[in-house]
Amino acid sequence: MELFIILELELVLVQIKCGNFFFYFYKMINLNFDALPIIETDRLILRAVTENDVEDVFEIRSNPITMLFIPRPIAKTKNDALDVINLIKNGIETKSKINWAITQKGNNKLIGIIGYVNIHEHNSRAEVGYVLNENYHRKGITIEALQAVIQFGFNQFNFHSIEAVINPENLASCNLALKYDFTKDAYFKDYTFSNNVYTDAYVFSLLKLCKNNLSRVTSIHCKLEKWYITKFYVFTLILTAKV
Ligand SMILES: CC(C)(COP(=O)(O)OP(=O)(O)OC[C@H]1O[C@@H](n2cnc3c(N)ncnc32)[C@H](O)[C@@H]1OP(=O)(O)O)[C@@H](O)C(=O)NCCC(=O)NCCS
Repeated sequence: MELFIILELELVLVQIKCGNFFFYFYKMINLNFDALPIIETDRLILRAVTENDVEDVFEIRSNPITMLFIPRPIAKTKNDALDVINLIKNGIETKSKINWAITQKGNNKLIGIIGYVNIHEHNSRAEVGYVLNENYHRKGITIEALQAVIQFGFNQFNFHSIEAVINPENLASCNLALKYDFTKDAYFKDYTFSNNVYTDAYVFSLLKLCKNNLSRVTSIHCKLEKWYITKFYVFTLILTAKV
């Protein structure tokens, strides 16, 4: 039997492995926030999407190359982009979808959107999604934002697992997921229906407390956001014992 205990001032996570089964004892999903928290990384600020971003959202959502593997209609007018923004805002209000605008430090332009959809409260699982303005590709921006959003998902929202549903032809996104150590869990035929076509999908996933991920969980706490520290999450101790 293996026992993993993660102690924090506010949280005690216990994972017991017994044979092939894992038993978990910890606080479930936690989406208690009023305004969307701002996340800061080395180069980026992730903030709420607002109506002021309409031009930038339109630039992304009207680009057929960027939208090739995104199962959503291409925006034809600024109003379509406004609808996207309202959906994002509504998702945050109802805590059903949580998306951030990706911006570069010192420049408020929205260059991408990243966040969680398909949030399953009971299973503490959510799907991560991302899109970046074509002019900013291959600069490591999405992986930097992804790292921050995943850390936030595991530590603040308390997700147990995070998945990415990706069209197998979307090599950029598949490689990105693999680079971030997602595992390829499944291949589903005709999984996604969009623009009157069914397409196949890989489901990649990442577990919070799988052995390979423990070092990632600890490193999360070395990069605490300032406001996060003020909420007394000041230390983490991981004990691993074989009983
Ligand atoms: C997928 C996407 C978000 C990647 O964004 P990005 O900021 O360019 O990615 P990064 O620069 O952070 O790249 C990280 C890794 O992803 C992989 N990757 C990214 N773009 C790639 C491409 N065009 N071809 C192959 N691999 C790619 C690489 O492994 C890369 O690491 P490397 O640069 O060290 O080789 C971007 O291509 C995009 O917006 N695509 C359209 C929207 C989309 O498909 N969203 C995902 C839906 S599931």
